[in-house]
Amino acid sequence: MGEHPVRVDIDLLSGQWYAQQPFEQWAWMREHAPVYWDAKNEVWGVTRYHDVLAIEKDAAAFNSHRSPRPHGNPLPMMISMDDPAHTRRRKLVNKGFTPRRVREHEQTIRQICSSIIDNVAPKGECDFVWDIAAPLPLLLIADMLGFPPESYHDLLEWSDDLIRGTTVDDPAAAEKAMLAGIAFRQFQLGVIADRRSKPPQDDLVSILCYAEIDGERLDDESIIQESLLILIGGDETSRHVITDGMLALMANPSQRAIFRDNLDTGVEELLRWVSPIKNMSRTITDDIEVGGQQLHAGDQLMLFYPSANRDAEVFDHADELDVTRDPNPHLAFGFGPHFCLGASLARVELRVMFDELLRRVPDIELAGDPLPRRASNFISGPEAMPVAFTPAAA
Ligand code: HEM
Repeated sequence: MGEHPVRVDIDLLSGQWYAQQPFEQWAWMREHAPVYWDAKNEVWGVTRYHDVLAIEKDAAAFNSHRSPRPHGNPLPMMISMDDPAHTRRRKLVNKGFTPRRVREHEQTIRQICSSIIDNVAPKGECDFVWDIAAPLPLLLIADMLGFPPESYHDLLEWSDDLIRGTTVDDPAAAEKAMLAGIAFRQFQLGVIADRRSKPPQDDLVSILCYAEIDGERLDDESIIQESLLILIGGDETSRHVITDGMLALMANPSQRAIFRDNLDTGVEELLRWVSPIKNMSRTITDDIEVGGQQLHAGDQLMLFYPSANRDAEVFDHADELDVTRDPNPHLAFGFGPHFCLGASLARVELRVMFDELLRRVPDIELAGDPLPRRASNFISGPEAMPVAFTPAAA
């Protein structure tokens, strides 16, 4: 116990490290150092499926006080809270995200997918990331939050800048992220003032403005942070499954050929394959041993979902894409009390988008190299992906 095998090409907080998709390093960590100590960043990295799952389940021993980022400042939003505060906060909004409520949006989601494809279909080419993958999740979550359509462009830019700022090796990106945080805050203060001046409505910001916990309303900072979490959870995640998922299908024609006949298992497999959220962090509550390492109260650790989802202990032929995989107990949405609030919404977005894409532009192919991936130590995917297809009528 206590040995720390090290590799110099592992840097758990460098955005560049994630941009180059470190599957080989994760495989090495699972085998040689499943609870890896990154001395430079003073953080533990957990890579095996069963360790990640056990930690997710034990919120008392592995708390979320500083989550979602390691060494983070506690923020007034559900992802940084532990029970009982966490459940009380999550309950304020979770009614809007149940599978039943989400199914009610399915028709709207299909219409949005259709119009997104209509816009590019006659051209025969587009940038898959910005023309197809990014708009759908943004439109849906911004509308649920009650933000006006004229703000969508800014919202996407701010949330992108905030995620690009999650790295330790790019001061310019960090500064842009700070400015985006300030701009979002100003914008959101205006929306909050507007909602408070009107009777309660059914958008999420209005719900947060009028919600009461023990007879008290949420303060501005809580509403800002909670809605930013929901915005980023919504618009920075599914889009990478759409892009990297399509990339995987283009590289695997036989899987692509059977995808529409296996939509439900296919979507789960793309979630496993892509795991767009690369990690979440936890803080050790009291000294504890994990995976043969002694961890101490206050230590920071990162749970690596893409690594857990390629663990051969759990997944047969884990490095192969199999759209019929069943069961598929992937951890792309996490597990336990913080299990993704938007999982049902994301699943419907993905099912409908892939169904429509593979029906409407079935011969879609890469038309050049995808540009570099987002250098973020949190959520990463291609920043652009030129594609071509036989032009189709709108
Ligand atoms: C493919 C898409 C998505 C993926 C892969 C994903 C993944 C995750 C993961 C890994 C967590 C942390 C779970 C944990 O710590 O155990 C999480 C939490 C969360 N997600 Fe998602 N997410 C996605 C889409 C969404 C959407 C569409 C929303 C919109 C509401 C959303 C909102 C949230 C929120 C609010 C939390 C915090 C929940 C809590 O702390 O209780 N996510 N998500």
